Amino acid sequence: GVTGLPPRARSEVEVVAHRGVSAEAPEHTLAAYQQALALGADAVECDVRMTRDGVLVCVHDRRINRTSTGRGVVSALDLAELEQHRVVHRRSRAAGIRGRPRRPAVEEEGDEVDEDAGRVLTLDRLLDYVTASPGRVGLAIETKHPTRRAGQVETALLASLRRFGLLSGGRPLEESGRPAVRVMSFSPTALRRVRVLAPDLPTVHLVRQVLPRSRKRSVPPVGTAVGPSLALLRQAPGLVGRLHRAGLQVHVWVVNRPRDMEFALSLGVDAIITDEAASLMHLLGRD
Ligand code: G3P
Ligand code: CA
Repeated sequence: GVTGLPPRARSEVEVVAHRGVSAEAPEHTLAAYQQALALGADAVECDVRMTRDGVLVCVHDRRINRTSTGRGVVSALDLAELEQHRVVHRRSRAAGIRGRPRRPAVEEEGDEVDEDAGRVLTLDRLLDYVTASPGRVGLAIETKHPTRRAGQVETALLASLRRFGLLSGGRPLEESGRPAVRVMSFSPTALRRVRVLAPDLPTVHLVRQVLPRSRKRSVPPVGTAVGPSLALLRQAPGLVGRLHRAGLQVHVWVVNRPRDMEFALSLGVDAIITDEAASLMHLLGRD
């Protein structure tokens, strides 16, 4: 039978910096990741998409319009084309909804250009940075656009992890002192693909909302953890206990307000994914 998991103690909860410390620095930039490491966050989150010429880049949206000075769809552009544009600090509308106190209008509207942020971050550059840094910060890598170019994103991701010594065959090298890695996705298909290629690599099945009752049984979570949205956890706080009893960790996203952090902590979740890593570290007395 399956061994259940206990509720995670407050002192053991993992702090995951969403797109780096994206409340303070442009998301998915080395500056944002440097802040996460400086704070002592346990892990950093990153979204990956594939360019037309097959390079994985850390970009959340399908298009580069919000996060750069350029325009266009990531998968329709070559890396060299992406690199012609500068990354800028524009907050997604979702981040506002997730409860960030309002920032000055100049940042809300995304006019501010961070001169140091520079070019789009490739996954390899991020892996290079993380593996060269002391402190072994973990990586929570989310694959986007899993249906187009089916399989290519996952194959390229695992190849990169192997190249940087984070994976050997299908096995993560965490136990031999390398940073811990997990792959996250909203797509069960993408996760199953990862689990075929690397059976021992932890995966997080992201879930946005409560499934209709009729579908509940037909879509069992894929992998070692489930990643519910904060909204879902509010609707169904009992989910944490149910998932833990089924042996699955719970990684909630994106929790930015202290009172929501307290709510998640009270439920005993295993990881909290936040744009506001400094504020969570403070709440946990880890600053
Ligand atoms: O960490 C999971 C969370 O990032 C999922 O939503 O849209 O921010 O990628 P999104
Ligand atoms: Ca994400």
